[in-house]
Amino acid sequence: MTFNPNRITSYQPMPNSCDALRTTSPITTTMAILLLAILFVSTVTSTRAIAGPADDILPIWREVFARPDTSLAKIPAPNSNPLTRAKIQLGEKLFNDTRLSGNRTRSCATCHDSNHAFTDGRRQAAPLDGKTKLANTPPLLNLAWAKRLFWDGRAKSLEEQVRFPIEHSQEMASSWDKIAKRLTSDSTLEELFRGAFPTASIPSRENISSAIASYERSLITPPSRFDKFVGGDIDALTQKEIAGFKLFVGKAGCVPCHSGWRLTDDRLHHTGRSRDAVKTPTLRGLALTAPYMHNGSLASISEVLAHYTALSPNNRSLSTNLTRPLSLTSEEKIALIAFLISIE
Ligand code: HEC
Ligand code: HEC
Repeated sequence: MTFNPNRITSYQPMPNSCDALRTTSPITTTMAILLLAILFVSTVTSTRAIAGPADDILPIWREVFARPDTSLAKIPAPNSNPLTRAKIQLGEKLFNDTRLSGNRTRSCATCHDSNHAFTDGRRQAAPLDGKTKLANTPPLLNLAWAKRLFWDGRAKSLEEQVRFPIEHSQEMASSWDKIAKRLTSDSTLEELFRGAFPTASIPSRENISSAIASYERSLITPPSRFDKFVGGDIDALTQKEIAGFKLFVGKAGCVPCHSGWRLTDDRLHHTGRSRDAVKTPTLRGLALTAPYMHNGSLASISEVLAHYTALSPNNRSLSTNLTRPLSLTSEEKIALIAFLISIE
């Protein structure tokens, strides 16, 4: 799978066939998730035929995984920072600008590389001093819909998030005064600031944060074969991928946390890889975001599955949805991995 960053910023609405799904209310989604328990039992009893057709379970999963309307006007943004093309354009420039780091060597894109679904391919992000431990760099995909940011959920909005890497002594180690001074004399930027913020077109912390947050909101994964499948085209996935999907929503028990079109509930859970609870990551772009987990401790999807199957039901610190023993045959693992990659 190749990830074409240019396709991300094309605000492609879903095909008309999905119109009915766009109006999914939170109540129907909750009801659909409640039906999981029932479905889980029925899927477990039918896992022998894992390569069977999926149309029998699709109606409910269509609601759970339905893509929202991702056209520009429908991308969620706070009232204080309405989304405009001018802000996105300025934000993209700033995201790639090394003048935002204290020693001018790093931009946001240094760690959030568009060729890696905005991750860096490293176990943990590279600290400026070469030794401080940082977390694994998460992808920046579909974050306009995210409820909290960072592995521990400490930032509540994209606007608020920007100051953390800028001020962090091991990430960009800069200050807002320094940045404002450096950017003020740049005439190309000046024009972009005027377009984005007509009334107060200065490179202030607030404007820079608003523009970068706007750019991040435009980073939306284009509809994949999985989205087409959810939209009703059951031929969009191979039989093996469909078998993996059935395991994902059934026997393997992944969907309570990896739910919704972003494949995350945005909540913190104990999954047995650290003492602290960690935010469920998206499963979009997995082929490009290895290594995995908050500390980058698992190198491949197959290692992630080995982690889930090795969890002890007696481990009392695990989230309740992980306290059931899970064993998968090698055929089932292959199907589940094929499905996870097809989500894109
Ligand atoms: C040194 C590498 C590095 C740089 C530079 C960097 N980041 Fe990050 N970014 C990370 C790491 C590591 C995390 C996870 C940290 C954590 O959760 O504690 C992260 C997390 C994030 C998140 C949260 C994503 C989520 O799903 O919760 C956003 C948004 C983000 N960065 C945006 C930015 C922006 C904007 C910039 C530039 C102003 C930037 N980053 C610069 C490494 C970096
Ligand atoms: C109780 C909630 C929960 C359940 C159930 C769950 N996950 Fe996760 N998943 C998480 C959390 C939280 C993390 C991050 C853990 C960490 O970083 O230490 C994660 C991480 C992952 C990752 C790594 C993604 C990345 O970018 O780092 C993959 C892949 C994954 N899960 C797949 C699955 C599969 C497949 C299943 C079913 C077998 C499953 N998960 C079940 C919550 C859950």
